[in-house]
Amino acid sequence: MASAAAPEVLGRVGSLPATQGNAAEAFDVERIRQDFPILHQRVHGKALVYLDNAATSQKPLRVIDAERDFYLHDCANIHRGVHELSERATRRYEEVRSRVQRLLNAREAHEIVFVRGTTEALNLVASGFGRKILQPGDEVVITAMEHHSNIVPWQILRDEKGIVLRVAPINDAGELIWEEFEKLFGPRTKLVSVTHVSNVLGTINPLGRMVAAARAHNIPVLVDGAQAAPHLSIDVQDLDCDFYTLSSHKLFGPTGVGVLYGKTSWLESLPPYQGGGDMIRTVSFEKTLYNAIPYKFEAGTPNIGATIGFGAAIDYVNRLGYDNIARHEHELLGYATERLSQVDGLRIIGTARQKAAVISFVIEGIHPHDLGTVLDQEGVAIRTGHHCAEPLMHRFDVPATARASFAFYNTREEVDRLVEAVERAKELLG
Ligand SMILES: Cc1ncc(COP(=O)(O)O)c(C=O)c1O
Repeated sequence: MASAAAPEVLGRVGSLPATQGNAAEAFDVERIRQDFPILHQRVHGKALVYLDNAATSQKPLRVIDAERDFYLHDCANIHRGVHELSERATRRYEEVRSRVQRLLNAREAHEIVFVRGTTEALNLVASGFGRKILQPGDEVVITAMEHHSNIVPWQILRDEKGIVLRVAPINDAGELIWEEFEKLFGPRTKLVSVTHVSNVLGTINPLGRMVAAARAHNIPVLVDGAQAAPHLSIDVQDLDCDFYTLSSHKLFGPTGVGVLYGKTSWLESLPPYQGGGDMIRTVSFEKTLYNAIPYKFEAGTPNIGATIGFGAAIDYVNRLGYDNIARHEHELLGYATERLSQVDGLRIIGTARQKAAVISFVIEGIHPHDLGTVLDQEGVAIRTGHHCAEPLMHRFDVPATARASFAFYNTREEVDRLVEAVERAKELLG
């Protein structure tokens, strides 16, 4: 089924010489922005500047059209029907699995499990490890920069099963302290569960090195890739991690869909997460045989329409090219860091050498919530609060931060608007 017409700008972006001139120019952001109608609106009378991409990113027309197209032409349940619509829906849904496989360079399509999002993917692994592998006194290693969704599932297991949570510390720049991380591995360590990119600090962790260190001790690694997938190209075979998780909605796709990648042997050995339709082969009151992977982990009707939209998002990002995205965002990050650093009394939290385009900051004497409210009045959308990483706030001794997080459709002019709005907030609140 053909999707409704959307502006054909992506081929052009891909064909532009990537190294010519200023990256922002070569990338032609203005053309890309035409694919995102939501960006062209006024908020409180001002042109919207959307800098809350780490919370959720905006969706290009192609994604919206793909989902709409499914409901217009192919809506049926999957894996069950013999009728044409069900076959089409199943085909479209399963094609997305193959696209995710290619996106992550997974060895097999059955290593891709569709879930609701990163949170569910992390909980799925925690639940499986909790029921099948972890014994009282066994240890799980995380880092000080984890999102709550990679802390709380382990605390639940700590309370229920008596496992021990070990937390790798970070330095003042927001980087993992390598020696301390390595020291945490012991005979009881059963899993390392770490974020690839911090949603607060922007830190890109040295994941390849972390996995290699864990592997040297025969410890499996689960990766929270929620904040990495929008910015970095990911190769799970190269990383050699055991599990990788991500959310469609942070990757320019719809909400309600995410991915758990797991190595075949792990997915085969872990118990099912939920019971219900589709995850079984046969059921009787005496005994149930589970379905093969990945279906063993996909009980019930999934979010079919959103998954198809997610497929369109993957195509969109691929056509832009991760190299082009990274170059543009790197330039924006440098510019925003430089401009914000010049604001009197402003302190950036998170100055790692390897950073994604996320800037958390605090301003002396102004509560981040008040700052966020003034910025909103100026049309600038940022996030304020603890960003679901309260322990990290304690680490930096701040109650909350303001966070500007960028995507490939953001511009230098928007950085200027951010800085002007911050200056205005200082005048009003300082
Ligand atoms: C680092 C990180 N991990 C996990 C999550 C949870 O993702 P979701 O809410 O899509 O499940 C987020 C969301 O902000 C995140 O930033």
